[in-house]
Amino acid sequence: MVRSFALAALVVFVFLALNTVTCFKSEEFRKCQQTPFCKDSRARKPGTSGFRASPAEVVDGFVQARLIPENSTGSDNLVLKLIVYQGGVLRIKVDQENVPGGKKRFEVPDVLVDGLEKKRLWLQRITAKDGLSTFYLSSGHEVVLQHEPFQVYVTRGQEKLVSINGKGLFHFEQRREKQEGENWEEHFRSHTDSRPYGPQSIGFDVSFHGAEHVYGIPERATSLALKPTRGTEEHSEPYRLFNLDVFEYLAESPFGLYGSIPFMLSHGSKRTSGFFWLNAAEMLVDVLSPGWDGAAAEESKQGIDTHWFAEAGIVDAFVFVGPGPKDVVQQYTGVTGTTAMPPFFSIGYHQCRWNYKDEADVAQVDAKFDEYDIPYDVIWLDIEHTDGKRYFTWDPITFPTPKEMQAKLEAKGRHMVAIVDPHIKRDEGFALHKEATSKGYYVKNSHGSDYDGWCWPGSSSYPDLVNPEIRAWWAEKFTLKNYVGSTSILHIWNDMNEPSVFNGPEVSMPRDNLHYNGIEHRDVHNAYGYYFHMATTQGLRNREGQRPFVLSRAVFAGTQKIGPIWTGDNTADWEQLRVSVPMILSLGITGIAFTGADVGGFFGNPSSELLTRWYQLGAFYPFFRAHAHLDTKRREPWIPGEPYTSRIREAIHTRYTLLPYYYTLFREAHETGIPVMRPLWFEHPNDPETFAMDDEFLIGDALLVRSVYTEGSNLETVYLPGSEPWFDIKTGQSFNGGKTYKLAVSQDSIPAFQRGGTIIPRKDRFRRSSSQMVDDPYTLVIALNSTQEAQGELYIDDGKSYEFEKGAFIHRRFSFSGGKLSSSSASPASKSYKTLSTVERIIILGLDAKKVPAAHRALVEEGGQDRQADIEAAPPVLRAKLKSNAVAVRLPNVSIDKDWSIKVL
Ligand code: GLC
Repeated sequence: MVRSFALAALVVFVFLALNTVTCFKSEEFRKCQQTPFCKDSRARKPGTSGFRASPAEVVDGFVQARLIPENSTGSDNLVLKLIVYQGGVLRIKVDQENVPGGKKRFEVPDVLVDGLEKKRLWLQRITAKDGLSTFYLSSGHEVVLQHEPFQVYVTRGQEKLVSINGKGLFHFEQRREKQEGENWEEHFRSHTDSRPYGPQSIGFDVSFHGAEHVYGIPERATSLALKPTRGTEEHSEPYRLFNLDVFEYLAESPFGLYGSIPFMLSHGSKRTSGFFWLNAAEMLVDVLSPGWDGAAAEESKQGIDTHWFAEAGIVDAFVFVGPGPKDVVQQYTGVTGTTAMPPFFSIGYHQCRWNYKDEADVAQVDAKFDEYDIPYDVIWLDIEHTDGKRYFTWDPITFPTPKEMQAKLEAKGRHMVAIVDPHIKRDEGFALHKEATSKGYYVKNSHGSDYDGWCWPGSSSYPDLVNPEIRAWWAEKFTLKNYVGSTSILHIWNDMNEPSVFNGPEVSMPRDNLHYNGIEHRDVHNAYGYYFHMATTQGLRNREGQRPFVLSRAVFAGTQKIGPIWTGDNTADWEQLRVSVPMILSLGITGIAFTGADVGGFFGNPSSELLTRWYQLGAFYPFFRAHAHLDTKRREPWIPGEPYTSRIREAIHTRYTLLPYYYTLFREAHETGIPVMRPLWFEHPNDPETFAMDDEFLIGDALLVRSVYTEGSNLETVYLPGSEPWFDIKTGQSFNGGKTYKLAVSQDSIPAFQRGGTIIPRKDRFRRSSSQMVDDPYTLVIALNSTQEAQGELYIDDGKSYEFEKGAFIHRRFSFSGGKLSSSSASPASKSYKTLSTVERIIILGLDAKKVPAAHRALVEEGGQDRQADIEAAPPVLRAKLKSNAVAVRLPNVSIDKDWSIKVL
């Protein structure tokens, strides 16, 4: 016992030491050359796949054929199914029919949305001609199955959009009996993987015709547009999808981090398409540069080829036809789910640190926010708040009265988040451990005993959350009764759920560990954290029908329907500030709208300037949280002092004024899957200038932000796309679209612009937290386009419950034309939600003085009554620096939930 504690302490100490003093330990992680299936897959030559498809038939409304390896004497064990869903979605499945021992290969459960089957198109017929079987996909699109050599592609008219196995790299290692004398074991460092099922990898190529760039397959710290990893020579490691706890990760590395979303988008001037492979085993993707296959450069410039390979599982892949970027994301999230509607408080500012030491520390930090007039919504407790890293407990010395502590926060409308990790301390005195052991709920090692790995508490075991029964059990642990010391304002943080195991292979769990029903960890690795996140979220959801907030570090396809994630342990340097933008954009376009990076950088101590710049950028992240490592200096917003504290306050205030806009965008993400934070090409898909751009980004379709990523910078290049003007959100200054500007930047804020043609709803009064803003009045900022028009929306609900699903919300559409702003209902489904909020001010940017010569009054019409409101040249914030034509209508006092109009006279 004593020895094992000593060992535990040593492992944790070494990990902590590594955490602080070294950077990325590349030798801890497998390279392609050390991974036999990766090496073999990469060695395959184009055109060598040698599979043919048998004649296709329609079975139960889908198309079926068998894939027969060339030179095979009749082996027809691989079954191909082609299934079509409404809205331009093709599903391609290939599975091994007969497996030795009768155990099916693994199919990832509980990722696809319920009700997908209802969206299936019941295929009636296929046209067979010239060795091709063709059938309907969606308006204008067809699927073609080429029989020999086997290939599937999607067409629009005569044009190919996406092909699978067009380059002949398809391979499928069927599970088979072990031959005598064969050894299937693999070794990495001191670890042995017994590989009881032997080789079973799968791979194929996917070509995106007409594409100029490919994006997606997070999570990694790289540019948004993915660089080629291979040409005729290898350029780099392939992009790796394998959830790992990587400390001090590097920017510009194809290495996979905590999450894996095997979904790629391709984009070119003509169209966008997407490809998703539902498979939770280790996966690698090569992006191939033109000419990689020896094809003439001109020919291969017609698109982008990619090569995908996974260690195990089946082919269960989806093609999305677009045609635009938003269509592809809608098609993808139609299959894997859209963003869960977040509770309102969670889109405010979060204050985190490893660790707030005790209750007095929490009270002190909380009070300082008020003292410095800085709003915040949530304070976080990291692992040290527990009694000896036993989650669901409180340290009796430092956190003796957790309920009282939470009650004090609640009184100010604030919330708390506490950490609950998946490693459970193997301590006979810990009831949770005893119960999990006696119920047999832990993941097993390859010999069938409870797996024992090392993590924060020392010796730990991991609940098998792949099993729905164990998920239900885990969820129960979050009832207010079971989670002693918790109250309804306590929400949860799920960390280390890749899972992270300090002494495991690649700091994770052995691949031959066993989940329920004998599922190998290898098959489900990338989704383990997803199931953990799902179970925890279910637990909070059971509490009182309140919307849960559970932050996860591990990510898989579909995580968006559970809750938010963050980008893990970044470092306090300028490069990591910069890379946070493509990381969040990449997650956003692959469905995960609610994300952010640790503001300030987790490791290391940021300079005051870097910290301030990080707040200025972070205030625009969809998820806005500051966090810091245990060993860093304190850096709450008041610590750097003036002038930094004022700048940070200003950044946080800006976020709070924009909360109505963000919430409206979260509603859009919830309805459609379209991310809150978007690359420029999402809104300007025909503008090639934007395709590789990831230093600026859009929030919704109205706001463009260009962060500052270098120390001491006073000049930045900003590209403003499109043909409409853009208005600086601080000064109102207008800029023509479609141009690159060199702009002077100050330390006070980062450049941000509102596009002409949009209306942004704001709440400008400063409060302690978002819950105190509920009834505050709105300001509508109207940025006019070249025809003096603008549109915008506002969504409001109670911000807490699921009543919005029954219609308890307000959804308004604002539209400005002919000098008149009108508000009308944007959704007939809205009914019973009530608010006291009115509109206290309307700001109009870009008003053409010739058209409205001397705007000085406004005529307000509401409920059949007319009244007048004053106009001033500009609101105080704009007046000083105003360079464009702006006016403000003061106190029109119209109700936010009614129809009305306001005409500028
Ligand atoms: C991991 C998390 C980090 C957290 C720490 C202690 O490194 O990524 O955010 O503070 O563990 O729980």
